[in-house]
Amino acid sequence: MTAPVIAVDGPAAAGKGTLARRLAAELGLPYLDTGLLYRATGRRVLDAAGDPRDPATAAAAARSLSPADLQRSDLRGPEADRAASAVAAIPEVRAALLDWQRAFGRTHGAVLDGRDIGTVVFPEAPVKLFVTASTEARAARRWRELLGRGVAAELATVATEMAARDAQDSARAVAPLRPAEDAVVLDTTELDAEAAFAAALALVRERLR
Ligand code: CDP
Ligand code: CDP
Repeated sequence: MTAPVIAVDGPAAAGKGTLARRLAAELGLPYLDTGLLYRATGRRVLDAAGDPRDPATAAAAARSLSPADLQRSDLRGPEADRAASAVAAIPEVRAALLDWQRAFGRTHGAVLDGRDIGTVVFPEAPVKLFVTASTEARAARRWRELLGRGVAAELATVATEMAARDAQDSARAVAPLRPAEDAVVLDTTELDAEAAFAAALALVRERLR
């Protein structure tokens, strides 16, 4: 059997990255955090004092991304979140990043996490997980992460900004955030990262049997 692609999609701070990284390590597959592509694109636009909502500017930034852009230390935080979601709504940006994502998983298989992996990037993936949790649980997770990085933030502000980003990601015309028809929804509101991993691994093994 060729190495599988495992799609992990869901809203902000649901635990997609934590889960996808562990699945990849467990299964010996490469891992790609596709959110980094949109974050790095948004960051390049901000660097040039451009508007992340402007299609020509954002598409040019997406086309000129280099691996070093994905290693930047300033890809997280409210400003980067907003810029990523803005550029991600632009069809030309998504088109520019699509082939790269497909090439990453096509040959050796991979675990990819994002918003549209199961619906657009790899609609033929044999395993699709849609990881979610209540808005309150997700906001608390992101808030704790920010505190851990020494960033002071109000929980209420984190929750409001996250809800706005989810709404924008869900409402956009191109590749909106939604579970693929054949995705398994994993609600982690009451699960810690360890329990979520155990549940996901059982699902993956069942699908790949
Ligand atoms: O990638 P995504 O934004 O969906 O979330 P993440 O960065 O993987 O996880 C956000 C935080 O939630 C991390 O600090 C995790 O330790 C924590 N967490 C989790 O990943 N899974 C759970 N079931 C519970 C908490
Ligand atoms: O970690 P978190 O879930 O907060 O965000 P992320 O996965 O790094 O994604 C940042 C933003 O990039 C999202 O809010 C989406 O607007 C966009 N994105 C997307 O449109 N499609 C993907 N496959 C991945 C991210």
